[in-house]
Amino acid sequence: MKEKIKKVEEKIALAKLGGGKKRIDTQHAKGKLTARERIHFLLDQGSFEEMGALVTHRTKEFGMDKQIYYGDGVVTGFGTIHGREVCVFAQDFTVFGGSLSETHAEKICKIMDMAMKIGVPIIGLNDSGGARIQEGVRSLGGYADIFHRNVKASGVIPQISAIMGPCAGGAVYSPAMTDFTLMVENTSYMFVTGPNVVKTVTNEEVTSEELGGAITHATKSGVTHFTAGNDLECIAQIKQLIGYLPQNCEDAPKALSYSLQTEIREGLETILPENVNQPYDMRHIIQEIIDADTFFEVHKLYAENIVVGFARMAGKSIGIVANQPMSLAGVLDVDSSKKAARFTRFCDCFNIPLLVLVDVPGFLPGTDQEWNGIITNGAKLLYALSEATVPKITVITRKAYGGAYDVMNSKHIGADLNYAWPSAEIAVMGAKGASEIIFRKEIMAAEDPEKKLVEKERQYAEMFANPFSAAERGFIDEVILPKDTRRKLIKGFSILENKVVNMPKKKHGNIPL
Ligand code: HXC
Repeated sequence: MKEKIKKVEEKIALAKLGGGKKRIDTQHAKGKLTARERIHFLLDQGSFEEMGALVTHRTKEFGMDKQIYYGDGVVTGFGTIHGREVCVFAQDFTVFGGSLSETHAEKICKIMDMAMKIGVPIIGLNDSGGARIQEGVRSLGGYADIFHRNVKASGVIPQISAIMGPCAGGAVYSPAMTDFTLMVENTSYMFVTGPNVVKTVTNEEVTSEELGGAITHATKSGVTHFTAGNDLECIAQIKQLIGYLPQNCEDAPKALSYSLQTEIREGLETILPENVNQPYDMRHIIQEIIDADTFFEVHKLYAENIVVGFARMAGKSIGIVANQPMSLAGVLDVDSSKKAARFTRFCDCFNIPLLVLVDVPGFLPGTDQEWNGIITNGAKLLYALSEATVPKITVITRKAYGGAYDVMNSKHIGADLNYAWPSAEIAVMGAKGASEIIFRKEIMAAEDPEKKLVEKERQYAEMFANPFSAAERGFIDEVILPKDTRRKLIKGFSILENKVVNMPKKKHGNIPL
């Protein structure tokens, strides 16, 4: 028996060495951790149980039968994060550059299947040169097997992808289909074709970093939700993110203990500027409303005219969608609509109640927006919020104009509780624009048209730039004092906890993609 045990130990020791010390040193020299080190820092100490450490590839061509590494370039298994089970895979760049072989893919599929069976999040730490070139189509099949599982798992268990090295070609589509993507600055990139192909096809000169680095995808494409300065920071973000999520779609996010206090927040009364056209930072309102220091912003650098993220309200996880007057006056455009719609759908999949904070002057006009499909993209957010059956509460802090009023979780599309501050202006459009249209003849005929416009503007504002005509019709449930907002929200989310909505029977809806 001793001999047999020794043999196992030797094999496991070899598996733990991956592609060997030299390649591990190269990985470190690039500022990257190895696959095993990443898992070590991600999971609770000693909780990792590995599966498939002794798997090897089956390729014989190109002398591959003489290059066998246990584990075949990916470490897979399960463990806990803050005591909660997760499944994980980490590609090992020290073995054939973390490239994906048939067996490598089988290991990933197996751990994904495990995550689905037991209903726990799956976390992928990606660091790979793509398809294992020596294997050809077998590797492509492996990718497709993973993609198919990503789709099946979507909305059932949270799926998180960290990009911690190269990720190119079709390989990018697995992370793209997961719920959240994180990228490490300067050591990771994602693109469908690299700079050389780009140069050949379009004659553009671009570096890997510019084409598909973390900052590019965080700011320009929105492909990544988070960026991190290094591997450890990225791992810390995953752990933080997991804290807000349930294990699966039939579970509720874990609540932290919280003892209720008076919950009055006087600070909320002084955030809005006197001048309605002056910007303010919606994050200041968010910070005052939620449990202290619990805001975890998602997609922070992308479409900054809308803010989305997780927070805690009396210890419980919520998702926040909020117009941001600091950027483009908080207008809805193509990118902000897509960003908010995707976040809304995630929250709805995973039983995370939604708080929508509204200060929106409307949709952004212009050829750029129209030609880029503001109609279809704006409809995404409208669809997502209408479709969501989780508890939904709206607070209008200032402007709620035009179609954007309807879209931003209005009563009409199924919000459960709609509150407005006394400063709310709920109307078809701003007083100036409205007066210029409906009083045009009167203004033009006046001795002093400018004076007339101001007078008409005031008249219109008094009549419509307030929350009362909406409240009179029950579109707003209550006009609340800003300082009472947190208290109202805690009570609101509490009463809505057991909300049940029966949707009409269907296969699935057809969101305007
Ligand atoms: C097999 C690979 C590999 C691959 C890298 N290696 N990529 N082995 N298949 N795809 C091996 C190298 O031979 C080397 O082995 C080790 O990994 C490290 O690679 P280096 O080139 O030394 O590392 P580095 O300089 O950091 O460059 C990393 C890299 C580069 C940029 C990823 O290796 C590269 O360009 N690889 C090829 C990428 C590629 O074209 N992949 C196929 C894409 S098509 P040794 O033994 O020296 O350590 C694709 C389609 C997917 O993926 C479609 C899905 C639907």
